[in-house]
Amino acid sequence: MLLSWSLFILALGGLTFAAPSRRANYVVHEKRAAEPSPAWVQSRRLESDKILPMRFGLTQSNLDKVEDILMAVSHPHSADYGKHLSPTEVIEMFKPSSETIEAVKNWLIGSGISPERIRLSGNKGWIELNATVAEAEDLLDTEYHVYEHEESGLEQISCHSYSLPAHVQPHIELVKPTVHFNHRVARDEGAPGKLKRKRESSLGKPSPYNGPKTNGEHPSVAPSLDSCDEYITPACLRALYNIYYVPTQTGKNTYGVVEFTPQAYLPTDLDMFFSNYSPSLVGTRPVLVSIDGGYPQAQYQGFDYNGESDLDFEYAMSLVTPQNVTLLQTGDMVEGAGFDNWLDAVDASFCTYEGGDDPSQDGIYPDTAPGGYNGPESCGIIAPPYVVSTSYGQDEFTATPAYAIRQCNEYAKLGMMGTTVLYASGDYGVAGFGGECIDTATNTESVNGTRFNPDFPATCPYVTAVGATQVSPGYTVYEPESAAETVIYSGGGFSNIFAMPSYQAAAVTHYLEAYPPPYTAAQYNNSGNVRAFPDLAANGVNYVIAIDGEFELVYGTSASSPVVGSMITLVNDARLGAGKGPVGFLNPVIYTPGFASAFHDITNGSNQGCGTVGFTTEPGWDPVTGVGTPDLTILMPMLLGLP
Ligand SMILES: *[C@@H]1O[C@H](CO)[C@@H](O)[C@H](O)[C@H]1NC(C)=O
Ligand SMILES: *[C@@H]1O[C@H](CO)[C@@H](O)[C@H](O)[C@H]1NC(C)=O
Ligand SMILES: *[C@@H]1O[C@H](CO)[C@@H](O)[C@H](O)[C@H]1NC(C)=O
Ligand SMILES: *[C@@H]1O[C@H](CO)[C@@H](O)[C@H](O)[C@H]1NC(C)=O
Ligand SMILES: *[C@@H]1O[C@H](CO)[C@@H](O)[C@H](O)[C@H]1NC(C)=O
Repeated sequence: MLLSWSLFILALGGLTFAAPSRRANYVVHEKRAAEPSPAWVQSRRLESDKILPMRFGLTQSNLDKVEDILMAVSHPHSADYGKHLSPTEVIEMFKPSSETIEAVKNWLIGSGISPERIRLSGNKGWIELNATVAEAEDLLDTEYHVYEHEESGLEQISCHSYSLPAHVQPHIELVKPTVHFNHRVARDEGAPGKLKRKRESSLGKPSPYNGPKTNGEHPSVAPSLDSCDEYITPACLRALYNIYYVPTQTGKNTYGVVEFTPQAYLPTDLDMFFSNYSPSLVGTRPVLVSIDGGYPQAQYQGFDYNGESDLDFEYAMSLVTPQNVTLLQTGDMVEGAGFDNWLDAVDASFCTYEGGDDPSQDGIYPDTAPGGYNGPESCGIIAPPYVVSTSYGQDEFTATPAYAIRQCNEYAKLGMMGTTVLYASGDYGVAGFGGECIDTATNTESVNGTRFNPDFPATCPYVTAVGATQVSPGYTVYEPESAAETVIYSGGGFSNIFAMPSYQAAAVTHYLEAYPPPYTAAQYNNSGNVRAFPDLAANGVNYVIAIDGEFELVYGTSASSPVVGSMITLVNDARLGAGKGPVGFLNPVIYTPGFASAFHDITNGSNQGCGTVGFTTEPGWDPVTGVGTPDLTILMPMLLGLP
C-alpha cells in the first residue's frame, strides 16, 4: 500500500489527537519522543518570569507533493528525469501560505501578545517571539521543567508535551523550545534574563557520533588483492566494485563529506596513507568549507578525534582522484553541531536566523561562549555539492516526528535540486547506538530493551542509506560478499516515524511476503507500510587506515557511505562530461528492476541485535544490505544513458 506524504502527516496527527488536551479546543501537538535516562532528574518548575526565545515553525505549502516532485526529477522512467529545480523554485514551492501566517499571528495577538513583539522570518517560514515562561505555558497549555543531571549537575529545560488550539494546529509544524530532550546540553539561547545552563565539557563527542570501530589490530603485512578478506585497501574496493574510471570534469564536479568538530583529519595521517596506497595524492588535502567556525583541529588526537575523518578522506580522495573532495567541517570547538547545521550551510532556507535550528539538537551560532565561534552563522555559504556523504547518525527514537520530518523534507529539497544525500545506516544491526534497544514499558533506550531501534537520518525516505558488507574469511574479491558480521553489524530495519515511499514498495513487500521475519509488531512496525532501510551497501569491514601515525583496521557503515559517495561522484563526472546533470536523488534508480544487474545481491548473513539474529539477507532487497553493492562498470553506463 502506498501512503502519500499528506496521508502520513494526517496519520501522525491522528496519533497525537488521540490525547485530548486539558484545555477546551486545544489538541496535543507534540509529546516527548523518549523519556530522559534516569540520570536526569526533574528538579523544579522553570521560573515563570524567565524569557524563552520561542519559534513557531509554520506549515509549509505543498508538502503533500514532496514525494511526487522528487520522483518526477529522479525516477528513471519519468519524462522529467534530471530536470532539477533551482533553489528559488524550491523556496517558492514550499513557503507557508499567507493564510497560515495570518492564522498564527491572529492567535498570538488574540492571546494578548502585542503585534510588535511578533517577528516573521525572512523566508516566512517561522514566527519568532520572546515570551516569558508564563506566557509560553499559557499559549501552549504546558509546563516547563528544569532537569538536572545527577552526576554532572548539568541542567536543561523541557516540557513533556504541548498543545495548540485546534484551529491553529494545522498551521504549525513544530514549536521550539519544547519537548526535545537530548543529553547534549546546548548553550543558552542568549535570551534576556537567561536561564543559566551549565555546559557539557567542551570536547565531548558530537552527539550524533556513530563510528567507526576498531579492534586495535595493526596490520603488519603489505596488503594485496589476495588478502582483502583480512585487509581492505583502495585496491580491494576497486576490484570489488569495478572502480576503474579517471575523472575528467574536476572543475565542474563536487563531492562533499560532512564531519562534526572536534572530529578532524590529520594531514600526516593522510600522507602516510597516500604514500602507501595513492602516491599521487601525497600533499593533497580536502578542500575545507568551514561551517559555523569548523576547522580540522589538531589539538586533540586519538581514535575518537581522528578515526572518522581520516577514514573518510583517505578512501574518498583515493577513489575519486584527481577530483577534489570538499570537507564540510561543521561546528566549533565549544558546542559542536548537528545535522541541521550542515543543511544550513548548503540550503539557506533552513537557517537559525530564520529560526531553523533546534537548540537541543543543533549548535546555535554565533556561539558567545569563551572560545566559541562568534562569527555569523553559516547560512547558504556554498551551493550544495552534487554528492554529500555523512557517516554520523542518531537513534530515530530520540527524535520527535516533527523534528525528523522537517529535516527529512530538507533532504528531499536537496534531491530536487540535484544532490545525492548519503547516510551511513548504523553499526549495531537492528539495535541502536551502543547496542541499546527500545524499552517500550518505560519509553527509554536500554541494553535490555527489546524493540528494534533504527537509525536516523537513514530512516528518512529521502536520503540514500548505506549498509555494510564484508569479504568473509577465506573468500576473495571475485566471490560474493556477505553482510558485515565482524566487529559491526549492518544497520537496517523499519522506521517508527516515516511511511513507506512509493519507490521501494514492491521490493520491500516482496521481502516481507517471501521471507517473513520471525518477529511481531512488538519488535518493529511490520505493517508493510513504513520506510525500510538500508537502500544499498558497500564493504565496511577491515579497512586499513593510517591514524595517529599507525596503520589500524577499522569497521563501520562509516566506511561504506563515502565509498558509495565516491562511486556516484564518478558517475556524475561521466554525466557532466556528456553534457548532462548530476544524478541527484538515487533511490528511485536503485529500486527500479531494470537496474538490478548494476548491484551485487548479498544473500549471506544478517544483522543481529536486541537479543535476536536481526533480519536476514535474501535474494533481492533486504533490510540488511538493501539491493546489494554497486558494480560501477554496469551502473555507470546505465546512469549515463538517462537524460
Ligand atoms: C529576542 O531577544 C533577543 C535578545 O535580546 C533579540 O536579539 C531578538 O531580536 C528578540 N527577538 C524578537 C522576535 O523580539
Ligand atoms: C582542488 O582544490 C584546490 C584548492 O581549492 C585547487 O587549487 C585545485 O585547483 C583543485 N583541483 C582541481 C582538480 O579542481
Ligand atoms: C539489564 O538487565 C540486567 C539483568 O536483569 C540488570 O542487571 C541491568 O541493571 C539492566 N540494565 C539496565 C540498563 O536496565
Ligand atoms: C505502523 O505504520 C503504519 C503506517 O505508517 C501506521 O499506520 C501504524 O500506526 C504503525 N504502527 C504502530 C504500532 O506504530
Ligand atoms: C557467510 O558468512 C559467514 C559469516 O561471515 C561466513 O563464515 C561464511 O563463510 C559465509 N558464507 C558464504 C557462502 O559466503
